[in-house]
Amino acid sequence: MAKKPVQKQSGWKNRLIEAAKEAQKNAYCPYSHYPVGAAVLTESGAIYTGCNVENASYGLAICAERVAVFKAVSAGEKKVMALAVSAKSAKPCGACRQVIIEFAPKEAPIFYVDWHPKAKTAKVTGTRAGRLLPQAFDPKEAGL
Ligand code: THU
Repeated sequence: MAKKPVQKQSGWKNRLIEAAKEAQKNAYCPYSHYPVGAAVLTESGAIYTGCNVENASYGLAICAERVAVFKAVSAGEKKVMALAVSAKSAKPCGACRQVIIEFAPKEAPIFYVDWHPKAKTAKVTGTRAGRLLPQAFDPKEAGL
């Protein structure tokens, strides 16, 4: 029997949100003290997570969202069906938005999980990938 599409499987949204929160606990952020976690759901139904990883040379920090997307792609998964980012007032930065839209179709849900590891409850809002970055750099327009 054909496998159900991932978004028809029950509980995927909660699993994605919980995975982002769990990854947030692994954030390496001794400079900003701002932990961020992210999780992406790929076409196969797998979830890849990421956290922000900072460095004493501040400019080398990488955001949680890019870690999660790059982990998925490096595992051979190039289609992001949904993404969750968890932090205090979580929202992906501009650089991450450009990276997300490279791999996520415009209808892919993007969940903003307002949470920090000591909070009791999380507030979830969100958008769709196609709304993340108006006037984004478009490889088709650039002839790439
Ligand atoms: N950060 C993320 O991981 N994701 C975002 O969407 C925004 C910012 C990280 C980068 C840095 O480690 C810390 O949050 C403060 O900017």
